[in-house]
Amino acid sequence: MLEIKNLSKAYGDHVIFKDLNLTIADGEILTIVGPSGIGKTTFLRILAGLLPADSGTMTLDGKELALDGNRTGADVGVIFQDFNLFPQYSVAQNIGLAPKLVAHQTPDEVHTHVNRLMQELDLQDQSDQYPFELSGGQKQRVAIARALAMNPGILAYDEPTSGLDAASTQRVTAVTQELQAKGVTQLIVTHDLPFADSLDSTIFDFATDVKR
Ligand SMILES: Nc1ncnc2c1ncn2[C@@H]1O[C@H](COP(=O)(O)OP(=O)(O)OP(=O)(O)O)[C@@H](O)[C@H]1O
Ligand SMILES: [Mg+2]
Repeated sequence: MLEIKNLSKAYGDHVIFKDLNLTIADGEILTIVGPSGIGKTTFLRILAGLLPADSGTMTLDGKELALDGNRTGADVGVIFQDFNLFPQYSVAQNIGLAPKLVAHQTPDEVHTHVNRLMQELDLQDQSDQYPFELSGGQKQRVAIARALAMNPGILAYDEPTSGLDAASTQRVTAVTQELQAKGVTQLIVTHDLPFADSLDSTIFDFATDVKR
């Protein structure tokens, strides 16, 4: 369960949000909607531990997450819009990097783990390809596989369907539904209301559910 209490963030005197409270139960999907510039990506960067918050607490499965911008550990997996894949590594290497370097798995364990994830995300044929050789939807699935490789307590996405055609959007929907069925907690920032409606999710509206 993710529990966020009284989270506040300002850039100088520009208050982005104040006393934001939200809870996501295990295996639930929370979709965050709201107009451009309202602070959704800022919130995801804080959730990922990449940006400090001004105040508030964040607890994941009973463990308090650092909010000073210096988080260690990989409890939160966030898939940002530009995916940040490592261009010099193949698909399999991108997915296997954290199991190897962070979880210190043996080469055999990494191989098994990466193959399972590539199978789950239908990336077997892309194993030896490099990011520049992939479509947008494929890059996105590599980013999801790479985030899942760390077994995060929560997986968050920034606009996962932007720039995707109907078939790729359908695929992202299927991936999130499969993860939901497995009990993975997910948070999805989206402008795509038909996509949000197609998920069994609770909607959190940054425009009305947040003080500023
Ligand atoms: N590093 C920064 N310094 C100062 N202001 C910033 C910084 N990053 C973002 N902002 C401002 O914070 C506000 C929220 O930006 P954010 O990117 O979180 O919006 P968003 O809801 O994700 O928008 P979009 O839907 O367009 O992606 C915007 O007004 C933006 O200009
Ligand atoms: Mg954004």
